[in-house]
Amino acid sequence: MDLETEKIAFVEPFPEALAPIVVKRRLKWIVVAVIAAFGLMQLTNAARTYPAVVPGHDLLSADPPPPQISAILRTACYDCHSYETHWPWYGHVAPVSWWLDSHVRDARERLNFSEWPRGDAERAARKWNHVAESVRDGDMPLPSYTRIHRAARLTEDQRKQLVDWAEQESQRLRSTEAATQ
Ligand code: HEC
Repeated sequence: MDLETEKIAFVEPFPEALAPIVVKRRLKWIVVAVIAAFGLMQLTNAARTYPAVVPGHDLLSADPPPPQISAILRTACYDCHSYETHWPWYGHVAPVSWWLDSHVRDARERLNFSEWPRGDAERAARKWNHVAESVRDGDMPLPSYTRIHRAARLTEDQRKQLVDWAEQESQRLRSTEAATQ
């Protein structure tokens, strides 16, 4: 063997032996990059807001429904439709936090028991109408929520109680408003 072939014989097997090490290194960097991205994501964590509940503004203090109805609203609706949201631990972890935050913001915008239209019977009546509709149709409480929060699952009986009461309340408010006009 001359010097040249000897050198090749020595060099050739080398890259092959090196391959698993190179792959492992790459994997390590991919894992590091994923962890870093996840970490950075946490900095953009959605601002979970807990605005203060102004006394007298909340439905339950302003114009409280009967206790069994209030109890249903509290356990099945208040996490999204009020300022008294209990964020679960995973609600602090992006990207789940983004998803929950957008849900809660959307929900509060449409129906917020912490900002109840106390002096506006017509608006309150419309809200109770929407509540009756959405609960009757099974749209509310959101199924993606009750899958995890078992306590918020409504029995047929609770659903009916809430729907009946919301309809009655809507009518009562409309008639009081008609009487004052
Ligand atoms: C997990 C969060 C969550 C829970 C719990 C929840 N909702 Fe909702 N709700 C939403 C979101 C998000 C929307 C808006 C988007 C939509 O309509 O799907 C909404 C919309 C509504 C609307 C429609 C308002 C409109 O403008 O028409 C009503 C009424 C409503 N919810 C009532 C309830 C009632 C009553 C409960 C409890 C029995 C409840 N929701 C529980 C998230 C929730």
